Amino acid sequence: MQIIESPEEMQRLALFLKRSGKTIGFVPTMGFLHAGHLSLMRLAREKCDVLVASIFVNPTQFGPNEDLDAYPRDFERDELLCEEEGVDIVFYPEPGNMYAADASVWVDEESLSGVLCGASRTGHFRGVCTVVAKLFNLVLPDLAVFGEKDAQQLRIIERMVRDLNFPVEIVRGAIVREPDGLAMSSRNKYLTELQRRNALCLRQALDHVVDLVGQGVVDVAVLGKSVANLMASVPDAVVDYVEFVDDETLQPVGRVKGKTLVALAVKIGTTRLIDNAVVVP
Ligand code: PAJ
Repeated sequence: MQIIESPEEMQRLALFLKRSGKTIGFVPTMGFLHAGHLSLMRLAREKCDVLVASIFVNPTQFGPNEDLDAYPRDFERDELLCEEEGVDIVFYPEPGNMYAADASVWVDEESLSGVLCGASRTGHFRGVCTVVAKLFNLVLPDLAVFGEKDAQQLRIIERMVRDLNFPVEIVRGAIVREPDGLAMSSRNKYLTELQRRNALCLRQALDHVVDLVGQGVVDVAVLGKSVANLMASVPDAVVDYVEFVDDETLQPVGRVKGKTLVALAVKIGTTRLIDNAVVVP
């Protein structure tokens, strides 16, 4: 396994690999890897000759009051995990080498980015799209795997690839959960033991919605109220949003008719967690 820090070297190697007829699979991450990330690597591994994973805590997707500096990092551990998953190249750039000090070109998705996490994290998806576009230009992947855990991010990246004609196939990886149902996240590390237990309310709320929809409850006002009641009983949990949106357009729906994405963002203490499920009537 090779570790490459220089963007120029990454691009040179990717060009060489492509000219040699190799297919490149890519899993972009911000590191502090967990089983969710590793499942994406396993999925990509089967579909390509050369597997590249990037580890880069991208500063441009963090807001001024977010956890950029505190974001957990452990490169040595990440390196071992990548090796175990059969990663061929770890791309591990320095922020200073990824962005020119006077960088002035950004990729801004304008339809799907204003809702859900985009509404409470201004500029977040501009940072995500820009870094993913840059990573695609450096790694030159044939396919890239993104997790359903970040459902909005996944749909925005698919839109970017469609609208800007990136020659990259986007593969969706299912949400990986802890045995008790909490979606794996690098941010779970911030939770105290008690908060960790309270964090189960996200999955419980989603299960509750799936049950209700299964019983024929499709009115979003009723479903939303039921989730709010459930959340109100959890100490330390402050709901950022509970939204029912069209799975494709991410526009709010009043009734669950077609494929509906139920997306949650909840602050447990100071840690903001997200989770989602797709429901059909
Ligand atoms: P990060 O949060 O490290 O996530 C990297 C990838 O892992 C994303 O595609 C994310 O959806 C996926 N992932 C995270 N938790 C998961 C889980 N429990 N199950 C399945 N997949 C999971 O998302 C980012 O980094 C960044 O925004 C990035 C795309 C790298 C751009 O900076």
